[in-house]
Amino acid sequence: MKIKSKANYLNLRADAAKVLHQILEEGQSARECLPIAQLPHKEQDKAWLQEMVYGVLRNLPILQFWLRQLLDKPLKNRFKVVEHLIMLGFYQLAFSRVSQHAAVSETVAACQPLNTLAMKGLVNAILRTFIREEISKQEAPNEQIASGLPKWLFKKLEAGYQNGFSELLTNMQVKAPIWLRVNTRKISQAHYAKALEKADIGFSHSPEHPEALILSKGHDITNLPGFDSGWFAVQDGAAQLAAHYLKPKQGETILDCCAAPGGKTCHIIEFQPDIAKIIALEIDNRRAAKIEENLVRLGHNASIVVGDASTPEKWSEEEFYDRVLLDAPCSATGIIRRHPDIKWLRKAKDIDVLVELQKKILDAIWPLIKPGGTLLYATCSILPEENHLQIHNFLSRTTDALLDDTFDNDSLDKPGKQILPGYHQMDGFYYARLLKSH
Ligand SMILES: C[S@@+](CC[C@H](N)C(=O)[O-])C[C@H]1O[C@@H](n2cnc3c(N)ncnc32)[C@H](O)[C@@H]1O
Repeated sequence: MKIKSKANYLNLRADAAKVLHQILEEGQSARECLPIAQLPHKEQDKAWLQEMVYGVLRNLPILQFWLRQLLDKPLKNRFKVVEHLIMLGFYQLAFSRVSQHAAVSETVAACQPLNTLAMKGLVNAILRTFIREEISKQEAPNEQIASGLPKWLFKKLEAGYQNGFSELLTNMQVKAPIWLRVNTRKISQAHYAKALEKADIGFSHSPEHPEALILSKGHDITNLPGFDSGWFAVQDGAAQLAAHYLKPKQGETILDCCAAPGGKTCHIIEFQPDIAKIIALEIDNRRAAKIEENLVRLGHNASIVVGDASTPEKWSEEEFYDRVLLDAPCSATGIIRRHPDIKWLRKAKDIDVLVELQKKILDAIWPLIKPGGTLLYATCSILPEENHLQIHNFLSRTTDALLDDTFDNDSLDKPGKQILPGYHQMDGFYYARLLKSH
């Protein structure tokens, strides 16, 4: 879908509807299409564009429920985007502080740049009915619609979390804070905290995270003190636990599988600068370039290898590694609060494929670990089959693999540690530390 004239292009609602169409109908990720749509807009408008898109994605089931009451037949083909535009209108009216007048007039005006002028009257009528009949006061008809999750994911989580399920649903809807990881090779956490104070930027500490500072509100990261000098990286608190859990030691050789964009690779180097070598393995060429970009900005060195973790015979130069971090490809269900497009891009059938891939990588990488060596398995998933069930099955079929009982395992039945979204302000994440016996 293309928007033609420059004047038309700079219409925020039209751009938001277009991005929603790209995500929901064309399967693009927000990471791909949102920055392109934001490019011509002013800083403040960029943030509002993202907030509108994310707001609709967070609340899609209830917005669709309301839409079905006011629109007789679904719109199709080139008019499908008008459904997204109408839901954007509902979002502004029900969840934002935009005045009713502005929400209606600006949303209706977006029909022109979207080349759907014929729908202007329909959009106007639906939004006015929405206000008049106080549709936004209607309760969601069931818990799944209220949760903002697709049915398949709601059911999976309901089965996986009998205890604390409603708290989990609530936390998955709460916006995530920005976590910084101070690059302690360049500046101490205390000194960087002073630099933030001087710049009048609010933040808090987390007792569990010695390198972290949590920003009190959103910021353009590139404008924070010391961005170009590599004083910090953006990394959620849960991801910042990886280096601490891996515990790399002086002189060791480390393999970081599935490494792009290199957040954990860089943290491992900061955490233990005296390791002998670290290999950052990544399957995707373009994403591997991001590892290099981050290493350069932060002033670190690593060997970047482009290759498939499930076929080490094609790329592995070292015979054995002391420690391996396997940050496995996963459903990313633990970071939905941060990236709400994930819940609409992922499909139920993807999960079995991912579980199979994780299994394949685990089995392929394990022989590369030295006897006495360590594997730290990590995912940003909250689905048991990718986490404790995956590790339970791995331990059952791998005779020389032991669960590290000095690690903070949830229980013997549930090997590893499941962090749920919102716990100590962190994303949802899973870690298991395994030892090779001989
Ligand atoms: C969760 S992200 C890794 C995040 C990274 N560890 C960090 O902290 O910045 C997973 C990465 O694994 C890569 N990947 C997926 N399948 C892979 C495979 N078979 N072999 C190697 N890398 C893979 C993806 O391209 C993606 O960059």
